[in-house]
Amino acid sequence: MPKTIKKVGVLTSGGDSPGMNAAIRSVVRTCAYHNIECIGIYRGYQGMIEGDFKEMGPRSVNNIVNKGGTILKSARSSEFKTAEGRHKAHENLLKAGVDALVVIGGDGTFTGALLFNKEFDFPIMGIPGTIDNDIFGTSHTLGYDTALNTVVEVIDKIRDTASSHNRLFFVEVMGRDAGHIALNAGIGAGAEEILIPEEDLGLERLLESLQKSKASGKSSSIVVIAEGDKIGKNVFELKDYVEANLPEYDVRVSVLGHMQRGGSPSCFDRVLASRLGVKAVESLIDGKSNFMVGLQNDAVSLTPLEQAIKGKTMIDRELLRVSDIMST
Ligand code: F6P
Repeated sequence: MPKTIKKVGVLTSGGDSPGMNAAIRSVVRTCAYHNIECIGIYRGYQGMIEGDFKEMGPRSVNNIVNKGGTILKSARSSEFKTAEGRHKAHENLLKAGVDALVVIGGDGTFTGALLFNKEFDFPIMGIPGTIDNDIFGTSHTLGYDTALNTVVEVIDKIRDTASSHNRLFFVEVMGRDAGHIALNAGIGAGAEEILIPEEDLGLERLLESLQKSKASGKSSSIVVIAEGDKIGKNVFELKDYVEANLPEYDVRVSVLGHMQRGGSPSCFDRVLASRLGVKAVESLIDGKSNFMVGLQNDAVSLTPLEQAIKGKTMIDRELLRVSDIMST
């Protein structure tokens, strides 16, 4: 018989992403549904160390399913990396009667969760929340779909200017270590070239491709670049390089930045968050711990947190080929 869970703590940590609120709502309401108490922990692990807690019931998460960001706030806590910080956090949880945790975040959040579990044998489930979609064990992380839609919408707008002025635009999108946003939004927005960290296109090939594009009759172009791409020049240096080598191009740069992390979550992210929140709480009730809930082949799945952290997400190489063909 698994130990009965009486009170679940929920927190968001690391970079915020659209859908985190919908996930908090789901955790809180699933607890209420199963007659379990729930508390919200503010500012991630830092709030756990400081005892910044709030009792939450189904009515405290009204009207947040459609809101970006996180009502619980988020933080990256350096104090939680110390044994003393984690000890304080554990004391606070015990004092508040919390006997299980749901943590919503990315790699760093899960690494902290595993350590905490190892030290205090504390039941924990993780929900993947990051727009980068770079977590192993789920086809989609919370916020990724919304970010894709945001990026596509913005590039559509940029294309109006690109085509009116016969310009080449370099659009930098988020993705420090992963090119999922660049690759998928790039195809969705009809980019001529896509530069991602997983594949170094090379400067020569970029020039060749742009020349080919001009020769084929295109008067404007969009190149989507992930911030972590490996071409060896930042987006502004790349503009100078292309202008120096292809003077026929009038180049502009647009760095989309944090606008990609905000905004109302897409329907997909809201449904995903709702499904993952239910599974996280019900897994704790079933006595499970140290798993990440995710989506695989459209079914909710469990992946050991250790694998979720260590595993590498791969880009779909077929998408690179599709992008090449589409830019003909
Ligand atoms: O959430 C991940 C991410 O979007 C990365 O792609 C990006 O490099 C980073 O967040 C930026 O984070 P911060 O808000 O700390 O600057």
